[in-house]
Amino acid sequence: MDPAVTEEMVKGMENFQFTMGHIEGVSLPSTLCDVWDSICNFQAREDDILIATYPKAGTTWMQEIVDLILQEGDVQKSMRAPIFIKVPFIEIVPPKPMPSGVELAQKMASPRILKTHFPINLVPPSFLEKKVKVVYVARNAKDCMVSYYYFQKMNKILPDPGTWDSYFSAFLAGDVPWGSWFDHVIGWWKAVDKHQILFIFYEDMIKDPMHEIRKVMKFLGKDLSDEVLENIKYRTSFQAMKENPMSNYTTLPKAIFDQTISPFMRKGTVGDWKTHFSVAQNIIFDEEYKWVKVLH
Ligand code: A3P
Repeated sequence: MDPAVTEEMVKGMENFQFTMGHIEGVSLPSTLCDVWDSICNFQAREDDILIATYPKAGTTWMQEIVDLILQEGDVQKSMRAPIFIKVPFIEIVPPKPMPSGVELAQKMASPRILKTHFPINLVPPSFLEKKVKVVYVARNAKDCMVSYYYFQKMNKILPDPGTWDSYFSAFLAGDVPWGSWFDHVIGWWKAVDKHQILFIFYEDMIKDPMHEIRKVMKFLGKDLSDEVLENIKYRTSFQAMKENPMSNYTTLPKAIFDQTISPFMRKGTVGDWKTHFSVAQNIIFDEEYKWVKVLH
């Protein structure tokens, strides 16, 4: 385990589960809601890079890509710490003595890579005021839903997702942690022209990872050789990340992520929803989400 996360901290997480509260109608852990003012006042730095996603859209994948780009493909440096330490999740407020995302971020040297699952209206204002570069990853809602369902099953500190059928209804209603997929993706999409946001699709990353990695590199103002980019592509492939303890969350104990229930690096494919949605659920979903197709 990373030295920043001690056994004592982990002990404090045993049998812990977030209860959920709401900020502006979005379901969020109540530990976060309780310190909402301090989250809002988080001070971004101009050279921060923010990775913003709806949960399960490929956040960890993009975190590793951005980190390797900043490290110019240096694998040793990218292995310096688990992903949740080197890229703090700014809004996570675990029980003490586990450090919060804000605490981890404040201690970091620049340039920092930070992660958020906030919809754009909840992002601490200083990120947008300071024109921080944001890489937003969107993934089709159906696969996000399936991935999130398994994640909530294995994530012992989030509420249990219940049955697949009840989860399906809750997801459609936006009644899951971090709220509605629809509001999230549309909110960030509408902000693309107003802020420094690179909008990337998970499905494009699967189809042509090199192309998308190059896009991210250019957005970050870097110029790396094809050889370095090839290595970044290889290091951030699903299989490589699944085997990498710094990426696959296996440094976290079962009391937090129980990977015997479902691995964090689960399938990494497009279209897994087809093996989960009933015909009726697919009709209901398509009706509800029909005009989102405009995005892709
Ligand atoms: P599945 O559950 O569908 O497999 P996040 O990092 O936002 O929590 O997203 C996790 C999802 O992204 C999981 O999806 C995970 O397998 C997938 N993922 C992570 N790294 C990946 C990679 N290198 N290539 C493809 N998918 C990846």
